[in-house]
Amino acid sequence: MKPQHGGNLYRISKKHNIALSEIVDFSANINPLCFPGGLKRILKEDFNKIRMYPDPDCRQLVDAISDKYKIKKTCLITSNGATELIYLICYLLRPQKAAIIIPAFSEYEKALSNIDCNIKFVKLEDKEEFKLKLQDIRSLIKSVEVLFICNPNNPTGQKISHNTLCNILYLAKRHNVFVVIDEAFIDLIEEESLVARAQTQQNLFVIRSLTKFLGIPGLRLGFGVASARLSAKIKNFQPTWSVNTFAQIAGSYLLADSAYIEKSKRILIKERNFLSSELKKIKSVKVFDSYTNFILFKLLDHNNTTDLEELLIMDKIVVRNCSNFRGLDSSFVRVAVKKRAENKLLIKALKNIFG
Ligand SMILES: Cc1ncc(COP(=O)(O)O)c(C=O)c1O
Repeated sequence: MKPQHGGNLYRISKKHNIALSEIVDFSANINPLCFPGGLKRILKEDFNKIRMYPDPDCRQLVDAISDKYKIKKTCLITSNGATELIYLICYLLRPQKAAIIIPAFSEYEKALSNIDCNIKFVKLEDKEEFKLKLQDIRSLIKSVEVLFICNPNNPTGQKISHNTLCNILYLAKRHNVFVVIDEAFIDLIEEESLVARAQTQQNLFVIRSLTKFLGIPGLRLGFGVASARLSAKIKNFQPTWSVNTFAQIAGSYLLADSAYIEKSKRILIKERNFLSSELKKIKSVKVFDSYTNFILFKLLDHNNTTDLEELLIMDKIVVRNCSNFRGLDSSFVRVAVKKRAENKLLIKALKNIFG
């Protein structure tokens, strides 16, 4: 089965006969701030580079990422979004047994299934606020070769405490298990990232996405961090020119703009808190705390997100129906944090529906 993600606005636009530009998209978790003015200008100036192959070594981009996140260049792999790295690490390691903590981003399961891996799922419970405890994986970790963790987690928004993560890494090392940590949504708690540790720990690969936080999903950009030895292997495995010219230019430009990055973080945290507190005022939903730029909630009275989707689409609002996340059901909905006017629009529409 092809995984369905948020953000498939092309399908929604066609199905409901709404222009793409009119859709208010809460289904994909993309930085809603306007780009700094200079981005359009430099992309226009470099338009003719469309006739040249991209720099296969992404030199300017590697410098920018290495500077910003303090990562040794030998430990860094730039990529066509985080997704490319999920597939590369699976194809490279080819584990026969792996574990995924669910609910989670569906591409881990897809990539592992492609290599006929036997997958064990560790299910987190909504009654426990989707918090992972060490005992959830203590015995299972002995029986797998690879463990996939998303921190903070999509779609729950929950994070794993630093202490628990360190204990998991300790156990993994003891039992010779390789750990892949997807930090696609760590930007709002950057201080908890394991990128520094991944440079020296041989059994750890940290995956980062730049498409979401920099707001460029159409360009595709991500990076991975691993020991120099593993990084070299992954790079060798990766198709040449994975990262296109404009992704390289935009990524370098935006990462160097610390004012844009800091402002994005500040506004996203403020708006997440606003959206969360407004959602909590609606009695018929349960709202889960989030460390990310999206919020998960559960419909308590009637459990059919499809009905809710149909009602919201009348206001041209699209949310993420979470029924196809393994470990969730049709009572769960995920919404992205957007700018104040759009967040208010969503709240107004939900209050109209739920009364
Ligand atoms: C947890 C997680 N990891 C990775 C990705 C993919 O990121 P990218 O667009 O950089 O490939 C997503 C996309 O939704 C995601 O939710």
